[in-house]
Amino acid sequence: MSFVEYSECIQEGDVVIIFLGHESMFPVKVQAGAQTQTRYGAIRHSVDLIGRRYGSKVTCSKGGWVYVLHPTPELWTVSLPHRTQILYATDIAMITMMLELKPGSVVCESGTGSGSLSHSMLRCIAPTGHLYTVEFHQQRADKAAEEFREHKVGHLVTVLNQDVCKDGFGVSAVADAVFLDIPSPWEAVVHARTAIKKQGGRVCSFSPCIEQVQRTCAALAEHGFQEICTLEVLLRLYDVRSVTLPLADLGPDDPAQAGPGEAPPSAASAAVTCRTAIAPREMAGHTGYLTFATKSLA
Ligand SMILES: C[S@@+](CC[C@H](N)C(=O)[O-])C[C@H]1O[C@@H](n2cnc3c(N)ncnc32)[C@H](O)[C@@H]1O
Repeated sequence: MSFVEYSECIQEGDVVIIFLGHESMFPVKVQAGAQTQTRYGAIRHSVDLIGRRYGSKVTCSKGGWVYVLHPTPELWTVSLPHRTQILYATDIAMITMMLELKPGSVVCESGTGSGSLSHSMLRCIAPTGHLYTVEFHQQRADKAAEEFREHKVGHLVTVLNQDVCKDGFGVSAVADAVFLDIPSPWEAVVHARTAIKKQGGRVCSFSPCIEQVQRTCAALAEHGFQEICTLEVLLRLYDVRSVTLPLADLGPDDPAQAGPGEAPPSAASAAVTCRTAIAPREMAGHTGYLTFATKSLA
């Protein structure tokens, strides 16, 4: 099992995603002899997991069942243990595309946080790229490094425990892209410029507040970045359901056709049922602004 490559069968030491429903998933490290409790009963790792194919339906001790899924960055983002605020698929999709990440890309990131974005970036840049991720909180840095090893992507990532605003990314002129998700990104812009290759590259900064964006844009311009652009990604999820609508009563086609004492035919009680997509009344709110910029050939 690796977060960047698919395996057929579950092995001891793998991290699997237990799927109870779309809103209820959690990761489990597979260990011979261990058990995991769910609301449907226990899952016995040796019997129910090891050797089974990924995607199997597993019956728990109380008779209910779960699916055991191969981990992916998408599933990790919705099931990981939160140590910080994290980035979700809507922003991650825009970030990885606008940073032009591809196999072989070298990326610098800060902070690592809970590693939600890191896992998606690692899948983009595997098998030959590298991620340098900087986190100044010691325990978060250690935990992220441990998870990268467990997820078999440790060879693709270097975790540095330092303050990116003071000490930068620990590399210079190697990065195709830099990503910032820290409270004062404008203080790290100079280090982003140092990290990016001489041929140029892309930078992205995520900030919840527009005042942070203003300061970051000013710093980007001051350090020679071009094509500075800020955007916000909002997701509208439509609900598909059946609706029954009354047909408009336009009166009888021909009242003369009604028999003596008989009411003329009417469409009043007619209705039509159809499948339709309903726009959400409420939407997930603002997450943050994404500011992108390009460092051109030096
Ligand atoms: C919001 S979290 C990042 C979440 C991450 N993007 C994810 O998707 O999981 C911000 C992280 O940046 C770290 N951080 C804040 N300022 C920093 C700095 N100057 N240098 C390094 N890390 C920093 C914090 O400790 C925190 O873990």
